[in-house]
Amino acid sequence: MELIRRVKEMQETCLRLKKERKTIGLVPTMGYLHAGHLSLVQRARKENDIVVMSNFVNPLQFGPKEDFATYPRDLERDNKLAAEVGVDYVFAPTAEEMYPGNYSTYVEVTGEVTGKMCGISRPGHFKGVTTVVCKLFLITQADRAYFGQKDAQQAIVIRRMVQDLNIPLQIITCPIIREEDGLALSSRNTYLSPEEREQALALPRALRVGQQLIQEGERDPKRVKEKILQVLESSPGIRVDYVEVVNGDTLSELIELKGHVLLAAAVYVGKTRLIDNIDLEVEPCTAVC
Ligand code: PAJ
Repeated sequence: MELIRRVKEMQETCLRLKKERKTIGLVPTMGYLHAGHLSLVQRARKENDIVVMSNFVNPLQFGPKEDFATYPRDLERDNKLAAEVGVDYVFAPTAEEMYPGNYSTYVEVTGEVTGKMCGISRPGHFKGVTTVVCKLFLITQADRAYFGQKDAQQAIVIRRMVQDLNIPLQIITCPIIREEDGLALSSRNTYLSPEEREQALALPRALRVGQQLIQEGERDPKRVKEKILQVLESSPGIRVDYVEVVNGDTLSELIELKGHVLLAAAVYVGKTRLIDNIDLEVEPCTAVC
């Protein structure tokens, strides 16, 4: 595995690989790798000749009061893990390398997909994400890029950018990897005290209650949303940021639950903000309702 820290070197390497007709799979990350990240690499490994993983804590996607400075970092450990799962190149530029002093170009997806959920709680966040991801696509010339369903809204926003800007690459969304007790893996879980770690379980539990309600025949998104809220609000140590029950492809409001549905929530556990979601295919209601 090779570690590359310069944009120019990464780009020249990828252009050479493309000339050799190699396919390139890109896995963008902010590092502090866990099994969720590694699952994306495993999928990319199966589908491409070359796997590039970026490891870059992107300052542009953090708000002024957010955790950019304290975001966990351990490049050495990450590189060992990346090598073990078969990454060919790790691209780990500095912030100055990605955004030199005269930097002034931004990519912003507007409208409904960024105008709700994390787009409201974290103004400017998705603009930071799409800007860095667009740069990574151009630097690596990737054929395919892999994202986790864990950040469902992020994947939808990136798909929209790729569609709108005619970027010739395929976006692949991979399932959420969870701890045995149900908590979705996240680099931010390291912020949680043992007590908060326990309290955080209310997030996946509340979403499962919502899912259960749908499986029992409920087709009113408002009632599912209320039930999820009720579980979260009655859980100690949890402060709700948002709960949404929306179309899983477009994030549009639903009048009736059918097709690809996303149950998504963001909560604070102490100072730590966690997100999670469940997406499911809902059959139109028959018999029981
Ligand atoms: P980061 O939070 O490091 O996540 C990198 C990728 O791993 C994202 O696509 C994310 O959805 C996926 N991921 C995280 N936790 C996961 C889990 N438990 N199961 C499956 N996949 C998971 O998301 C970002 O970085 C950044 O916004 C980035 C896209 C790299 C742009 O800076």
